[in-house]
Amino acid sequence: MRRSGMERTNLLLTTSEERLAMASVSIAPVQRQKKIQPLIVRITHWINAVAMFIMIGSGWRIFNDSPLFPFIFHPDITLGGDVQLSFEKWQDSGMGGALQWHFAGMWLLVLNGLVYFAYNFATGRFRMKLLPVTLTGLLGDIGDALRFKLAHDDLSVYNHVQKLLYIGVLTLGVLVVLSGLAIWKPVQLWWLTDLFYGFQGARWVHFFCMTGFVLFLIVHVALAVLVPRTIVSMITGNAPPAHAPKERE
Ligand code: HEM
Repeated sequence: MRRSGMERTNLLLTTSEERLAMASVSIAPVQRQKKIQPLIVRITHWINAVAMFIMIGSGWRIFNDSPLFPFIFHPDITLGGDVQLSFEKWQDSGMGGALQWHFAGMWLLVLNGLVYFAYNFATGRFRMKLLPVTLTGLLGDIGDALRFKLAHDDLSVYNHVQKLLYIGVLTLGVLVVLSGLAIWKPVQLWWLTDLFYGFQGARWVHFFCMTGFVLFLIVHVALAVLVPRTIVSMITGNAPPAHAPKERE
């Protein structure tokens, strides 16, 4: 059967409209599922977790070589190679190995941190996700948490306690790198070392930043495990609904 030009155009239109309709049906569920964590944030977050593990583990072994306080970290929970072997070969407790871990981890931490900060500042994500933090908001969220009423339904919005913790740990991240640089190059970067009241002051700041990270990690991981959907969102970018609809019997 021969069709007129108009008919052919109509046919084409109908076909493309149909295609469009079909496409929107197939992409609709994907669109409805909100992206909670962008890919860059997820990648940098997990690289940071590995870098932190390296930095803290090797930092503890370096601390053991010349402790600031009257205690040392058990070598089994530190990073720097076998202590016995190191004594036999190099007559030290693994300080050399720990320093190599620490400097390798430092590059990972700093480069990864620069990507994370650049992305969050450039896109305005920091302002959107972490601000504002208000006293009333904080007190309200703490009250809700104590009454086990803190809402976790919308994972795309951080509560005020989370915001404060994240701002705090990001600030510690900047401080730990600056104090580390001051300890690493106290002669070349004398002005930076001076800002920390000298080499010893920078060591103190560096140590207390590490302590802050460890305390943050305990709370952070505990909260993530309490609301496992957040871990899914930090891996896949999306999260399953808080209350999945019950299947019909
Ligand atoms: C090792 C040091 C770690 C640091 C410094 C850290 C820091 C952070 C920061 C700053 C955020 C907010 C990211 C943003 O939205 O821009 C975040 C989110 C998150 N982190 Fe970590 N993190 C660490 C390790 C971990 C570990 C080991 C876990 C594993 C359970 C974890 C689980 C999560 C989850 C699930 C979120 C998303 C929270 C939510 O959406 O409610 N983090 N982390």
